[in-house]
Amino acid sequence: MTPTFIWRAIAILVAAPFSMRAAPPSVVEWARTIDVDAKMAEPNERVCFESMESSGSVGHSVINCVVRAAGGARTAWWLRQRKKSDQNEGDDPRRWPLFLIVVDRSADNVASFYQFAAAPFDSNAKEVPLEVPCFNCHANGPRALRASKLWGETPRSEILDAINLEIAADSAITPATSVQNRARFFGNEPARMTPLRLKACSNCHDGKNRAILRFAQRDTIAFMAGLGPAHSGGTAFMPPGGMSSQDRQALLDWLDGTW
Ligand code: HEC
Ligand code: HEC
Repeated sequence: MTPTFIWRAIAILVAAPFSMRAAPPSVVEWARTIDVDAKMAEPNERVCFESMESSGSVGHSVINCVVRAAGGARTAWWLRQRKKSDQNEGDDPRRWPLFLIVVDRSADNVASFYQFAAAPFDSNAKEVPLEVPCFNCHANGPRALRASKLWGETPRSEILDAINLEIAADSAITPATSVQNRARFFGNEPARMTPLRLKACSNCHDGKNRAILRFAQRDTIAFMAGLGPAHSGGTAFMPPGGMSSQDRQALLDWLDGTW
């Protein structure tokens, strides 16, 4: 054996565990090949708005900028977000914290969730731990966008409308197990994965048309049904045709944990 051969053999042995970890190419590696910041900087490629739902659930207004991209069986959505009141983060979305959802249709419509440091998004973008339980609001992967007002140089809402049509037309998407598990144990409540079996909802949220709704998602469920945070009320988006007063009461009981 020549010395070069031995060195090569050692190099391969040392590198093997790392290359095994890197393969197969993950959805996040695919997402990293897309120049999302170029799109974030281009008003015709992104939609920026004040969020209707997030202001109610987190207690302060937030500005969301969303970009979508598709490639083969995968679709990615990026969100850059800042507090409306936080002027320090400036008006350039490229400097705001970054969230990513990738849906992989070649793998049973699984949605993966990621969070990155507030910095340009490129092949070196630093992934950080998910700071909130994404599953609590994202029952079915990406959510329809509900704007109380378009923000910044957002000349039109066609991108928003197109994204919402796609999200409404999608069939059930399953958030990755790790994201579900995080919601399962968050807050140490054993009942968090209890399904919502009310017919007025489970007709569509049945695990086929859309993912089953669970108790962990009660704030989002309350928002969507127009029951508001702490049931203070609001616009009802669900069910699409409205519901009977009996169903409404049954849903209130379920949300209060008295089902
Ligand atoms: C409190 C509820 C809530 C939580 C928790 C939450 N999101 Fe969202 N997210 C939303 C809503 C609602 C939208 C849709 C935009 C809007 O209307 O504000 C959204 C939009 C997004 C989008 C843009 C694509 C889409 O779904 O429309 C991404 C990407 C995203 N969220 C990622 C994440 C990640 C990653 C986490 C966990 C770290 C997370 N979100 C946690 C409520 C939430
Ligand atoms: C006719 C079908 C249908 C019925 C019935 C229905 N939904 Fe939905 N729901 C949808 C669709 C489509 C979306 C996604 C588009 C959107 O957000 O408007 C959705 C979205 C949601 C979401 C966000 C998570 C997701 O799957 O995107 C929640 C929470 C929700 N609905 C709650 C409810 C509740 C609570 C009821 C019963 C009171 C209900 N829905 C009844 C069709 C339905």
